[in-house]
Amino acid sequence: MRHFTSVYDLPSLEVALNEAFLVKNNPFGFQHLGKNKTMVLMFFNSSLRTRLSTQKAAQNLGMNAIVLDVNQGAWKLETERGVIMDGDKPEHLLEAVPVIGSYADIIGVRSFASFESKEADYNEVVLNQFIKYAGVPIVSMEAATRHPLQSFADLVTIEEYKKVKRPKVVLTWAPHPRALPQAVPNSFVEWMRAADYDLVVTHPEGYELAPEFMGDLKPEYDQMKAFEGADFIYAKNWASYSDYGKILSKDMNWTVSTRQMDITNEAKFMHCLPVRRNMIVTDDVIESPNSIVIPEAANRVVSAQAVLKMILESL
Ligand code: CP
Repeated sequence: MRHFTSVYDLPSLEVALNEAFLVKNNPFGFQHLGKNKTMVLMFFNSSLRTRLSTQKAAQNLGMNAIVLDVNQGAWKLETERGVIMDGDKPEHLLEAVPVIGSYADIIGVRSFASFESKEADYNEVVLNQFIKYAGVPIVSMEAATRHPLQSFADLVTIEEYKKVKRPKVVLTWAPHPRALPQAVPNSFVEWMRAADYDLVVTHPEGYELAPEFMGDLKPEYDQMKAFEGADFIYAKNWASYSDYGKILSKDMNWTVSTRQMDITNEAKFMHCLPVRRNMIVTDDVIESPNSIVIPEAANRVVSAQAVLKMILESL
């Protein structure tokens, strides 16, 4: 595997899961792979889990890890080709990326959707410039349309907690005060479909995800109906795709509470974090014994380490 930007980059889901459980059971057993190798982690946006877990994963594999916050202490980077650079961005990605590539064996990139242009976001202009010009493998640490390290950790977590071979997994929209990208739900749908779980996506009308992610899956607009008999509830907010980047609803009836959880099959509650309590989920649900948000976040080290191991083995 050279780059990691989606589930489609994996050799197979089965191989990836085997790698995940291998590194989970033996986190320091593969340090020879990363010896004298450097990973640069580039953050265009804030992070807690991705920053710490990916750095830890690289270090567990014996790599040096360098973190760069692009907007704090580095030159602001221009991403559009052909612009007259007379604004506040003194360096272009076209120079910065190969320079960083000359210092790194692997580069991790976090670059969210800007919501300025649906076309630019869904063409992944920043991530693809890294892939084109860095000369080294690129790992998406959440791009405009996908968050594959999160989805991989979600998959590992579901595999650990599921009681039946093909659990019912429900992705539910929930309200949020700000417009959030579709990267997490897009990616979650992609990975859950690849795993062939019984996936149900529920949200208010107007929040349909891009057809390239949903495929033939139809949304269920009745949240209570979606929750019936569910084994896993995955809550997330996202802004509208069709009315791109807009907030169409803040309906607090969609906040996940015991009202909905009580009709599930004692479902485990999941969220990628950070989570806005009593907007996305009530205190009692996220603090309940069925909430697995902390082991889910802990598995971010596992997914990152499995991905880095596979890339290091192919260098
Ligand atoms: N889930 C996730 O990616 O968390 P951070 O934004 O804190 O990295």
